[in-house]
Amino acid sequence: MPESLTIRRPDDWHLHFRDGAMMRAVVPYTACQFARAIVMPNLSPPVTTTAMAAAYRARIVEAVPPGVQFAPLMTAYLTDHSDAADLAAGFADGVLTAAKLYPAGATTNSAQGVTDIANIMPVLERMAAIGMPLCVHGEVTGDEVDIFDREAVFIDRILAPLVARLPELKVVFEHITTSQAANFVDGASDRVGATITPQHLQINRNAILVGGIRPHMFCLPVAKREEHRLALRRAATSGSGKYFLGTDSAPHPRHAKESACGCAGIFNAPHALESYVSVFEEEGALDRFEGFASENGPRFYGLPLNEGTITLDKAPLAVADELDCGGEAIVPFHAGETMRWRLRGVG
Ligand code: NCD
Ligand code: ZN
Ligand code: ZN
Repeated sequence: MPESLTIRRPDDWHLHFRDGAMMRAVVPYTACQFARAIVMPNLSPPVTTTAMAAAYRARIVEAVPPGVQFAPLMTAYLTDHSDAADLAAGFADGVLTAAKLYPAGATTNSAQGVTDIANIMPVLERMAAIGMPLCVHGEVTGDEVDIFDREAVFIDRILAPLVARLPELKVVFEHITTSQAANFVDGASDRVGATITPQHLQINRNAILVGGIRPHMFCLPVAKREEHRLALRRAATSGSGKYFLGTDSAPHPRHAKESACGCAGIFNAPHALESYVSVFEEEGALDRFEGFASENGPRFYGLPLNEGTITLDKAPLAVADELDCGGEAIVPFHAGETMRWRLRGVG
């Protein structure tokens, strides 16, 4: 068993920075690990235009600690009224890397999302034509569908018909949580990839509900049964280039999660790499970690691999019970635990 692991510097292909003081407090956690990150646009109000994405990118860049190399990759939030020409221009200019589909009502700050995929078909056709990737929160909404089934139903009702209709469109099935999602991705063309979070590799739904409701384990899509966690571990460590690292780090103030109606989202940015690498170690797949963390994502997006490396040491790491993020207490993933790996630094 190696005592340390050095890999090409990785990227995070899905996360939430928020804005304002909280953004300034959380950006350094990501920037010190990852060279780039796909930044989600579900602010309030959402980042729906190229101009809004450019302004948000500038605010993020200002929050990167001096001497740290980090590039935010911006996304635009699709609505029923998205302007295909604006998004295409933003993609051509390098302001936008992708556009994001939130089914309206599916998750945090998705109220202005898409109410019917038919409403954005012209935008998606344009994206397919210019090679602009679509990032997808893959859950249906609607009271008739059980929350544990919403991802699988999304595949049948929305995603499979979409990729059949637009086979050229690059689609990232974000934060997958089920064996059905992994099966779908495995069977799809190489235009379809998926991100997997550390929490969906680490926990099943018991972590949320056994012994009392544990709001800091709650995110969307909600963690499923153990068989699904095991399927995700197989997918992430399989060596398939379709799967890549996307933390879905989603900070919410402690009080907003410890509430009668607690927010969905797990803040895993502080120790994301340590969390992932322990999974790869447990699966006997440390040799496949670099592909998942540092190679598959850029290859899918058509971006260069990073220069430089990071090193993780096999050494105990105590995780704080909570962190002060711009004046708000936030409970991180793995709070209070001792992790087995520790990030040494960016080389
Ligand atoms: C995310 C958030 O808080 O913005 N929450 C979550 O539970 N994953 C939104 C999202 O990625 O769906
Ligand atoms: Zn989501
Ligand atoms: Zn997310």
